Amino acid sequence: ELSPIDRAKFVAAKQAAGFVEDGMKVGLGTGSTAAWLVRCLAERMEEEGIRFRGVPTSTRTADLARELGIEVISLDEAKWLDLTIDGADEFDKDLNLIKGGGGALLQEKIVATASDQMVVIADAAKEVQTLGNFPLPIEVIPFGWQTSQSLVEETLVSMDVMGRKSTLRMNGAKPFVTDEGNHILDLHLGRIGNARQLALVLNQIPGVVENGLFIDICDRVVIGFADGKVETRD
Ligand code: A5P
Repeated sequence: ELSPIDRAKFVAAKQAAGFVEDGMKVGLGTGSTAAWLVRCLAERMEEEGIRFRGVPTSTRTADLARELGIEVISLDEAKWLDLTIDGADEFDKDLNLIKGGGGALLQEKIVATASDQMVVIADAAKEVQTLGNFPLPIEVIPFGWQTSQSLVEETLVSMDVMGRKSTLRMNGAKPFVTDEGNHILDLHLGRIGNARQLALVLNQIPGVVENGLFIDICDRVVIGFADGKVETRD
């Protein structure tokens, strides 16, 4: 028996799994909602015999996909994808996103950008008026990360955001390490007035590899509700 939140994630994932067609190359997102997607796709393989190849956005997703018998290829092997399906931490009415709560934003952004279509699957609680309540993850290289952090905080002074605090993401007593061997700073912004500008400015800062703002990347959001209802925005 699924909890209400898992039921919402599951029904969104199930619907989006239906978008995958025989022979497609599909980007596989990361997180608990994306894990439901991978399970639903494995089920379609078994029940309908559809065949597709998946490009995972993290080692976690790669492990799950392989375990369930999905053919996994690298992005360089795929070169281009028909579709990427991924979760998100927040989405707004323009389908701009905050991602990276699971720490996989770098691969996620590369894979989504290399796809004809990006579909986000999310429970209804992820919808916001303005992005920024969820801490914005940015990936920084370990060398001199505190200098990068200071530069980020200085940069935020001139941006249209509410808060400016940033915290190094931890994994127990140690800094969290991404699949690329980097760290994550979580920016507690509260409200992002100009997400497009912020996304550009953050990536200019030395040591910052990528940020979790996905602007004009997502084409469609499939929203799941605890009662099993599903809504689509595009
Ligand atoms: C992973 O890095 C994130 O971008 C996830 O897509 C996001 O955190 C959503 O995760 P859940 O589906 O677990 O909420």
